[in-house]
Amino acid sequence: MLYSLLALGLGTALTEAAVVRTSGCQLHFTASGAISGPVGEISSGQVRAGSGVSSTSFTLQGSQLFDDKGRGCWWTPPAHVLQCDKNQNPDNGFKVGCDGSVSFNGQTEFWECQTGESGQYNVYLNGGQGVNCHQITLKADNCHSGCPPPPPPPPPAQSSSPPPPPHQKTCPANLNGPYEFPHLIIPVDKTKPDNAPGTSFFGEVSSSVSSIFNFDIPSDDKGKTCSLVFLFPQQKDLTTSSFNITGSGALDFASLSKPATQSTTFNNQPSKKQDFGTTTVSPGHSYTIATFACPAGEAIAFEISDANGGGTSFRYFQDYNPSPIGLYITKC
Ligand SMILES: *[C@@H]1O[C@H](CO)[C@@H](O)[C@H](O)[C@H]1NC(C)=O
Repeated sequence: MLYSLLALGLGTALTEAAVVRTSGCQLHFTASGAISGPVGEISSGQVRAGSGVSSTSFTLQGSQLFDDKGRGCWWTPPAHVLQCDKNQNPDNGFKVGCDGSVSFNGQTEFWECQTGESGQYNVYLNGGQGVNCHQITLKADNCHSGCPPPPPPPPPAQSSSPPPPPHQKTCPANLNGPYEFPHLIIPVDKTKPDNAPGTSFFGEVSSSVSSIFNFDIPSDDKGKTCSLVFLFPQQKDLTTSSFNITGSGALDFASLSKPATQSTTFNNQPSKKQDFGTTTVSPGHSYTIATFACPAGEAIAFEISDANGGGTSFRYFQDYNPSPIGLYITKC
């Protein structure tokens, strides 16, 4: 306690001894308007502005201004000329705006009036107090925060904004968001090439069987992105479905040129439009096979077959109950 009292006493003594203020913020001013130039002082403490003035530094402490000799600056009555005087209690009301503009109690326009020295002008709070007076503003080189950036421009009108780059994003490989399930599944069999098997609830792939899945994309999905996903949970996560799989799990996914019908057979099935290549599936995984602009209002079809005759034999009950299993289109 004794130590801190001593320290406090020492600090007070130092502050009083110092001529240059140790608190507050040091700054310089420039004037512009009717005249322009730096702001300084003559030895008496009278503030001068203009091209014939050398800049001196001031200290802003709160809303009070001091000169570089620690003298308090005030608008000296009765003319309200700016001056810094020894032992003078400085005027309150000086403020530096975020851009450095100086105000006094909100007033940003000041006045300069002629002196006997060329290029030197007195600074007044009001006009008409001296000879040949005109308006000026004052700017500080320091003690301002910097203005916040201007607000971003308003978003461009819908019509003029460029369309987003197509299919950059991928929709989720789960059914937590919007999705489509197949409305028709046709397992075609090359060992019975003219047999039309009709609708199935199962996805089925073997060395002879491929499955075609039809999807109908609603017309209000225009502009959305679609991802073809294959969801393959583990058996323990299925509540109403089941699967059997043998072999490597290598499956070939392809889009077809047109949807299948109830009378689609191996021989008359639609041609492949685009082959997405081989995806090797195993339980407990989800796969994003392809992502494309949603073909809104269209019926589209995909086919899953045994990749390269790899010997996969796979049969599952296509089911969106937890956990969903099979081929879906997710939308985003
Ligand atoms: C899986 O194999 C068993 C035994 O052959 C059969 O009973 C079951 O229906 C098969 N499940 C599927 C989804 O094909």
